[in-house]
Amino acid sequence: MRYITIALAKGRLARQTMGILEQIGISCAEMEDKDSRKLIFTNDELGFKFFLAKANDVPTYVEYGAADIGIVGKDTIVEEGRNLYEVLDLKLGKCRMCVAGPASARECLNNGSMIRVATKYPKIAKDYFNNIKHQTVEIIKLNGSIELAPIVGLSEVIVDIVETGSTLRENGLEVLEEIMPLSARMVVNRVSMKMEQERIAKLIEDMRKTIS
Ligand code: PRP
Repeated sequence: MRYITIALAKGRLARQTMGILEQIGISCAEMEDKDSRKLIFTNDELGFKFFLAKANDVPTYVEYGAADIGIVGKDTIVEEGRNLYEVLDLKLGKCRMCVAGPASARECLNNGSMIRVATKYPKIAKDYFNNIKHQTVEIIKLNGSIELAPIVGLSEVIVDIVETGSTLRENGLEVLEEIMPLSARMVVNRVSMKMEQERIAKLIEDMRKTIS
């Protein structure tokens, strides 16, 4: 039997996903050893391989077929724009992609003025301002702690993930516009979907039942 390879975005999402897989009988004892530096884990009996990757790289592994399946956030899927099938909403890690900033920035979003937008998601931000709002903006790519940008004067607003909203609140910022709801999704390689149709369809169905 050919192994089905699943790429997981490392961190909390990977742990939660393994929890769901365990509930449908696909466990991986090796992966529970927290001190291990191993990158690939197998369930030889059922023919599954798992590996942990940086979230942004998960769609790449799946598009090229190095993984048949990936579990990763919708934010990463949209930002990476890879050629793959999105087949299931795991309803984990629910949050929103938003435009945020100080309340005073509301005006420059409404009058279409040229503003600077700091974000970890340049593609999502560019697409939203150019194609949805038809506002010309300058996108500044940052790698973390995005909330700093409007506070120190790097940008007027940010495009970032908002979960509880407490990071914004504690820094005197607020949600100004909502771009899209987010959660973890299962993505599948286009060829794998045909070659392993039966096993993948069963996996999707079993997971769907556990989630809802
Ligand atoms: C994310 C996001 C916000 C925060 C939102 O950052 O970029 O900063 O979480 O969560 P909240 O609405 O519940 O406060 P993350 O912790 O992933 O780190 P980062 O700053 O390095 O992006």
